[in-house]
Amino acid sequence: MSYNTEYQASINDPEAFWRKKATDLPWFKAPEQILSEDDNGIARWFADGEMNTCYMALDYHVEQGRGDQTAIIYDSPVTSTKQKITYHDLLEKVAHFAGLMQSHGVGKGDRVVIYMPMIAEAVIAMLASARIGAIHSVVFGGFSAHELAVRIDDAQPTLLITASCGIEINRTIEYKPMVDEAIRLASHKLDKVILLQRKQCLASMQEGRDIDWASAVCKAPRADCVSVKGTDPLYILYTSGTTGKPKGVVRDNGGHAVALKYSMSAVYNMQQGDVFWAASDVGWVVGHSYIVYAPLLHGCTSIVYEGKPVRTPDAGAFWRVIEEYKVNAIFAAPTAFRAIRKEDPEASLLANYDLSSLHSIFMAGERLDPPTYEWTKQKTAKPVIDHWWQTETGWAIASNLVGIEKLETKPGSATKPVPGFHVQILDNNGKPLPANTQGSIAIKLPLPPSCLASIWGDFDRFASGYLTEYPGYYCSGDGGYIDEDGYLFVMGRTDDVINVAGHRLSTGEMEEILAAHDAVAECSVIGVYDSLKGQVPVGLALLKDGATISEAELQNELVAMVRKEIGAVACLKQTIVVPRLPKTRSGKILRKLLRQIAENQDFITPSTIDDPSSVDEIKAIMQSNGLVKEQAEA
Ligand code: COA
Ligand code: AMP
Repeated sequence: MSYNTEYQASINDPEAFWRKKATDLPWFKAPEQILSEDDNGIARWFADGEMNTCYMALDYHVEQGRGDQTAIIYDSPVTSTKQKITYHDLLEKVAHFAGLMQSHGVGKGDRVVIYMPMIAEAVIAMLASARIGAIHSVVFGGFSAHELAVRIDDAQPTLLITASCGIEINRTIEYKPMVDEAIRLASHKLDKVILLQRKQCLASMQEGRDIDWASAVCKAPRADCVSVKGTDPLYILYTSGTTGKPKGVVRDNGGHAVALKYSMSAVYNMQQGDVFWAASDVGWVVGHSYIVYAPLLHGCTSIVYEGKPVRTPDAGAFWRVIEEYKVNAIFAAPTAFRAIRKEDPEASLLANYDLSSLHSIFMAGERLDPPTYEWTKQKTAKPVIDHWWQTETGWAIASNLVGIEKLETKPGSATKPVPGFHVQILDNNGKPLPANTQGSIAIKLPLPPSCLASIWGDFDRFASGYLTEYPGYYCSGDGGYIDEDGYLFVMGRTDDVINVAGHRLSTGEMEEILAAHDAVAECSVIGVYDSLKGQVPVGLALLKDGATISEAELQNELVAMVRKEIGAVACLKQTIVVPRLPKTRSGKILRKLLRQIAENQDFITPSTIDDPSSVDEIKAIMQSNGLVKEQAEA
């Protein structure tokens, strides 16, 4: 099968293409309606199919005689723990935990917020939620109480599931005080919390509200799978948009299962029984799709790794895990390999390990810079595959589809569109651009299975954020170009979203926090180049008349505010006081221009600018503070 044949089939007749792919999964009732439209006029997949994602991921494999195969391997260098859980045992744990959830009133369509570190119980909680038709919303452990409260208010959960702590390098993060604070801050009343006590830290329990996981689950009955429709939501995952309010991406059960199952063979070239390792976190979309759902839907073994690429204990951590569990494919963010390279530039630790099981290294989450690509490829002697992704899609939009036909790679390119994604480059007026011309990356509708069909509780936000800019297309928010051979180059966001160490963050949200400081009159937060994390946020602040605070003091306070409001993961460490910011005559800060200066890109000063001299002034300030990417890096 050639890539072109497969891709063209998906574009020429999407319905026939996905009808066939859907037959690879065990439905309770196979879908007959493959592609339909909902009341909002949005394409929906497999609307009348009946199924259960947990059944497809666990029960089915046990029924097929694969119960003794390892489903997940929990490897935690930070707690010195290693554990293998078979499909049979995982199913039993999930079924009883699902029973516990049901006994506390959680039913089909109810929301369950999960705030947990990278432990097997996080996977159990997610699958248990899927089993009873509930909708989970996992919140990344690096987010603050405030962020958790925002998500609680938006999702309105019946239950919250957490653990007493997470463990970072040399530091234990107590989760429970954050959960208590988030529940206090939220307007939505949450009166049930299931708490997993970890031995690294015992959390206090609130009488009448908190339920101890370990003691309650032993008494819980086993829950059966609840049948849901293909279009019923499996989860909500909040992601950063351009404002302070995160967007709840809603994922359907049916399209998600079909796309992920297909991706395991087409994108990742994985067979049943293989070992897949997504070195991410269940709090991110990569973790949802490739730590939890896809490997299990495909009957693979998935690794749940509670550690970092470096310092747990050293830069050989990835190589150790690959050798120990005979990993066939790894998926991680480029920043992880930059971190390894920084600590072990010659990859000398690699000599201690056998990577012969590994067939490919997949990277995504941020742009894979050519030096990191070359270094990883050269040191490991393995194919390195860049693929482009978004929370909104739940799987790769562009990749080198090694399971179909391995194409030549081009450094800096995510190769070609994945079947189902009709990718085009558009100009500001929505007209397709010729090869090698940069513009907005858009996807012609309908989007393939797994992609969002709404933002939780806010269809208008979905329509205005993604569909109205270019009618007939989904606007990705990324810019880039397609070359003469059809290769896609994703160059970066065209909005107020930045990628910090593979973590998606909103500069707009940080601006709202900075602007709340008493001394700040106006501000802008931009993403600047960072050799390890790809980008880091830096604040540019204009002081109110009469403000006497020193620049250093202001920085300390702003950094602390962002850390408290968003969490440590925001990584805002630097702010600079500026005499003014470039603005339009109507007073709008020219954020795009600031981004372009930081990226060292050519820019055209808009004719609407209030004072053209403000551009040279801010450029000089940014240059003198090292905020402009060097040419070699640009
Ligand atoms: N819970 C609590 N805090 C967390 C956290 C979590 N799950 N994850 C990160 N943090 C904290 C870190 O401890 C750090 O705190 P500090 O400022 O007090 O040191 C802060 O958030 C920033 O974290 P990070 O940006 O990850 O920096 P780091 O120096 O701890 O680690 C890397 C750097 C490159 C090793 C790490 O970012 C990494 O492994 N990145 C890969 C990212 C990834 O997998 N992304 C998923 C998309 S595929
Ligand atoms: P997230 O929703 O957290 O997965 O982040 C999605 C964003 O990460 C995209 O919109 C891109 O900006 C960026 N991204 C992900 N993968 C890649 C890639 N392979 N190349 C360039 N950017 C990427």
